[in-house]
Amino acid sequence: MSPRISEEKIEEIRKSVDIVDMISEYVQLKKQGRNFIGLCPFHGEKTPSFSVSPDKQLYHCFGCGAGGNVFSFLMELDGLSFIESVEKVAVRTNIELPDIGSSNEGTQRQDEDRKHWYKGHELAAKLFHHILSTTDEGREAREYLRKRGFTKEVIDQFQIGYAPNSWDFLTSFLEKRQLPMSEMAKCGLLAVREFDNKPFDRFRDRIMFPIWNKQGNIIAFGGRVLNEGNPKYLNSPESDVFNKSQTLYSFHIARPSMRKKNEAVLFEGYADVTSAWRAGIDNAVATLGTALTEGQGKMLRRNVDKVIICYDSDDAGQQAAYKNAQILEDLGLYVRVALLPDGNDPDDYIRDHGPERFVHNIIGQSLTFMGFKFRFYRRGKNLNDEGDRMEYIQQTLTEISKLQRAVERDHYLRQLADEFSLSLEALKQEQTQIFKARKKKENRHNNGTFESRPQVQKKLLSAHENAERILLAYMLQKRDIADQVQEKIGGTFNIDEHQAIAAHLYSFYAEGHEANSSLFIERLEDKRLKHLATELAMKTLNADMSEQELNDYITQIENYPKKQQIKQLKVEQKKAEELEQFQEAAMLAMEIMKIEQELKNSIRNNQ
Ligand code: GTP
Ligand code: MN
Repeated sequence: MSPRISEEKIEEIRKSVDIVDMISEYVQLKKQGRNFIGLCPFHGEKTPSFSVSPDKQLYHCFGCGAGGNVFSFLMELDGLSFIESVEKVAVRTNIELPDIGSSNEGTQRQDEDRKHWYKGHELAAKLFHHILSTTDEGREAREYLRKRGFTKEVIDQFQIGYAPNSWDFLTSFLEKRQLPMSEMAKCGLLAVREFDNKPFDRFRDRIMFPIWNKQGNIIAFGGRVLNEGNPKYLNSPESDVFNKSQTLYSFHIARPSMRKKNEAVLFEGYADVTSAWRAGIDNAVATLGTALTEGQGKMLRRNVDKVIICYDSDDAGQQAAYKNAQILEDLGLYVRVALLPDGNDPDDYIRDHGPERFVHNIIGQSLTFMGFKFRFYRRGKNLNDEGDRMEYIQQTLTEISKLQRAVERDHYLRQLADEFSLSLEALKQEQTQIFKARKKKENRHNNGTFESRPQVQKKLLSAHENAERILLAYMLQKRDIADQVQEKIGGTFNIDEHQAIAAHLYSFYAEGHEANSSLFIERLEDKRLKHLATELAMKTLNADMSEQELNDYITQIENYPKKQQIKQLKVEQKKAEELEQFQEAAMLAMEIMKIEQELKNSIRNNQ
């Protein structure tokens, strides 16, 4: 068995970090009362239902139910294992850890593989960078990049490299470094021959762009041909550590600046990001040749409020800008779109016109999303043609009708009226009609609920459910209450999840722990229980609970099954009467009375 991190150490590490600080790195938090609130990073929402408690060092989302302590946050958000999340906090707060392996053999094996994968990529990147920067073999690539305006700083900053034209250059290098070949193939760094499974170099005669994960480990490469050739880019295949739809090029380089500026710039290509960096735009990221996903949008939303999209001026680029702007806006981000002159991509523009003009004339002149839509719908239309003009007006009115604020709608309506010398009144009417028609259609689709409501509204809880929740909340915070409840009702909570939490809690205290909801939650393995326990632990409670109160709650819990029983017996009684089985009915009536009496007694005893 590998040594494990002791519980005391984990506790020390957990206490070394403030959950509000840690989560603030991913979520914009605002103080509200004793807690901090923000937009939940685990589900898309526009009104905040994610709450972080500095007192309890826990977080909980009332919308999607996510919750836990600082370790669970990192596990859920970054997909880390428990040990990795502990390590991450320890590194951050400078706490020395014994050299540990993970507790379980499966994950230990996985962690081991991952380390090899990262190591392989890191060594490869260094090697390629070295070849490009200093060797004879890299001369042509160096020359190509120089002509395209890549400076030495850019090449160093992004660790750009060159993979020589060889089938076994990297393969034999990694072999010599004693990295397991099968793992190097599994993570996509090497390719394998089909007929004998022999590994060989996947990337040959290509400019190599390392691709990092959020933590800054290299997980893949994008390899570009020199000059023309097909495919232009060869990307690493997806693997356990490389998921294109969850990765943004240069994200970890851009993150500090994104946070500082509260703004990100989204490009299409690697070369755009590196050129923009030269222009001082160091908050730039790009997707990996695929459509922007909601996951990538959320990565941005955890860091910024505003995104500027800067895509190629060609039709495909503008279509993609439109689609992605919509995705980002739907996630609640403020979106602007920067336009380039026809025939330019950002990288060309910077090379031809210089970094300053790019910053001022392109990024600085970006349009609001609405402004962009007005431009976008003009593409391919001749506005002197009546048909085209009407189509354009219809499209823009549809967009205007989606705006929430009347002043905004008014602003754009006036603009439209001015440009085409139309009556403002008529435009307004038309716009209202579009709005009503859409609303009607949406109502049909949504079964009468227009616009999904935020999920914050409180569920109506029945008395016994509420009693169980309150008791559990106290039990999480006070050991003596847990002891009393255990003595009185043991594990007989009516709701399965409550029963499970109570059972875990009793054994937690039996192991000799004092009340410690964070530690308790950390040890729950079932995610649903973890979330529920967090929600309960986050409840604000009075400092004390009187004997009377405690007994009331217990009575409610105990009486619930009796009430259910009475209900059931009454149904049976009625059935018996209908079947004229009067003796049976009379016996049932007596039983009902007996239980009703018990219920009365229990309430009286409690008063
Ligand atoms: P340059 O042509 O060198 O300026 O590169 P670029 O990054 O500007 O490329 P471009 O704008 O043509 O494409 C944008 C992104 O799409 C690239 O950065 C790649 O991620 C991806 N891409 C482009 N061509 C290919 C290809 O042939 N194969 C794959 N897999 N991805 C590509
Ligand atoms: Mn380009």
